[in-house]
Amino acid sequence: MFSLSSHAKPTRRFYKLIPISGLIFYVIYNFSNIRSSSLVNNLIYNHSQYPKTLSPTNITHLVFGIASSSNTWVKRRHSIESWWRPNVTRGFLFLDRAHREFFPWPPSSPPLRISEDTSRYNDYNKHKAQQAIRMMHMIVEAFRAENNSVRWYIMMDDDTIIFVDNLVDVLAKYDHRKFFYIGANSESISSNMFNSFEMAFGGAGYALSYPLVEVLAKNFEVCIKRYPTLYGSDHVLQSCVADLGVSLTQEKGFHQIDLHHDVSGFLSSHRQSPLVSLHHLDAFNPIFPSMDRHESLYHLMTAAKADSSRLLQQTICYDRQENLTLSVSWGYSTHIYEGIHPPSVLQIPLETFLPWSRAARPPFMFNTRIPSRNPCSAPHVFFFDSVEDNFGNYVVTSYNRTSPRRVLACSSSGNGSANYIYKIRVLSPLRRYNEVSGFIVLSSYILVFY
Ligand SMILES: *[C@@H]1O[C@H](CO)[C@@H](O)[C@H](O)[C@H]1NC(C)=O
Ligand SMILES: *[C@@H]1O[C@H](CO)[C@@H](O)[C@H](O)[C@H]1NC(C)=O
Ligand SMILES: *[C@@H]1O[C@H](CO)[C@@H](O)[C@H](O)[C@H]1NC(C)=O
Ligand SMILES: *[C@@H]1O[C@H](CO)[C@@H](O)[C@H](O)[C@H]1NC(C)=O
Ligand SMILES: *[C@@H]1O[C@H](CO)[C@@H](O)[C@H](O)[C@H]1NC(C)=O
Ligand SMILES: *[C@@H]1O[C@H](CO)[C@@H](O)[C@H](O)[C@H]1NC(C)=O
Ligand SMILES: *[C@@H]1O[C@H](CO)[C@@H](O)[C@H](O)[C@H]1NC(C)=O
Repeated sequence: MFSLSSHAKPTRRFYKLIPISGLIFYVIYNFSNIRSSSLVNNLIYNHSQYPKTLSPTNITHLVFGIASSSNTWVKRRHSIESWWRPNVTRGFLFLDRAHREFFPWPPSSPPLRISEDTSRYNDYNKHKAQQAIRMMHMIVEAFRAENNSVRWYIMMDDDTIIFVDNLVDVLAKYDHRKFFYIGANSESISSNMFNSFEMAFGGAGYALSYPLVEVLAKNFEVCIKRYPTLYGSDHVLQSCVADLGVSLTQEKGFHQIDLHHDVSGFLSSHRQSPLVSLHHLDAFNPIFPSMDRHESLYHLMTAAKADSSRLLQQTICYDRQENLTLSVSWGYSTHIYEGIHPPSVLQIPLETFLPWSRAARPPFMFNTRIPSRNPCSAPHVFFFDSVEDNFGNYVVTSYNRTSPRRVLACSSSGNGSANYIYKIRVLSPLRRYNEVSGFIVLSSYILVFY
């Protein structure tokens, strides 16, 4: 899936240039097995009303439904506005009620809708998440309000950021005329256990294809009445979707982030899949140690604006002459290890974070590496500093050392110590991806400053 070759070529005295090339292959899914059996009536969908040839999916085909509340809106507004594109992204922010101080409604925010009254379903509201029915109904309301040339509806929370262009790329792989339910489950085993391993977590956001939403809207009552006691709207939705014979399509770029404390170890080994969402922005430390949450978010967005398709995706390369290993999480961090470490190890996240629920054993849905003070396995850590996109055909991201490593060199002679490296620049071709072949060819150069 991911190969790289590297040849260390010292070009000048003060920096080293390391070319890397990797190939990311997009798996072609077989859609032909989607079942359409149903427990709910009215499922037969008439495909012939759609044109036979399809234009590529673009941003205008997506409608967002953002669940917010009068209690959370003011403090979360900035995270929504960091990715929302006024007059470009379609959709609504749903509030339970609006206070006078919310007006005039800012044009930089998504258009406001006050959720319809769903009190007629109160007998079926035994959900621990009080707002579950209101949030389920958001799907119906978004569909009724905005259904012209829509291919996908995306439901999400107000403490989530979306990388819109990457979401478009991900959804464009799927045929929106079929029944699709796309998202990801939690990083936490206990969260999945408590809800469902087959569930797309609502905080990370999930996408529903148009025909699926049309059927869900028709069957809203059946759905609410059948599942009055599940925890939240995302589990009710998953149950109804499952009853329609549609299962979850997992996409690795959606992130619930059921993690606490320092998530840098997790974000620094992101898989080769476009970053789609990050949730729970208030539940973990600022992702850049020298900044607060708000600054961190806007800092990450500066890299995203230059080339969101690469954002966070991990690339590993080697400087054999200096006996060093580099792991780059594009636009976020770079780790330098002394000695040669294989990708199979570096792809495992460093456990810098804490589990969502302390009781859970094992806590995570993935393997982790325990951070170590051993100089041969502790990385030198650099964080994203700046991006330049006026560099010919390249976009250049720079990474600074934020604090000294504070352990000795791995080799007793002191040879191979990366202590003197203070800055790393990564030159990547300025191009999103090759739409014709479906392949991404990454060919980047890394400059290491001593
Ligand atoms: C499906 O839709 C097409 C175009 O709207 C219509 O001509 C056709 O009769 C419909 N088929 C069924 C089975 O409803
Ligand atoms: C999106 O696709 C539609 C066709 O489905 C096209 O009319 C429209 O111009 C496209 N918009 C953008 C922004 O590419
Ligand atoms: C959005 O569109 C409205 C109406 O067309 C216009 O008044 C407003 O200035 C636009 N806002 C932005 C941020 O472009
Ligand atoms: C589609 O949206 C329009 C408003 O744009 C609304 O009048 C219509 O009822 C909606 N269709 C359905 C099936 O909800
Ligand atoms: C590379 O570094 C490792 C760890 O410091 C050391 O054990 C090994 O001998 C070094 N190899 C070379 C060729 O210098
Ligand atoms: C990163 O280093 C550059 C100089 O190389 C400096 O100008 C910049 O302020 C540094 N950034 C941070 C966040 O320390
Ligand atoms: C470190 O080792 C490399 C290769 O073994 C050698 O070329 C280089 O001169 C050594 N550097 C120092 C500072 O000893």
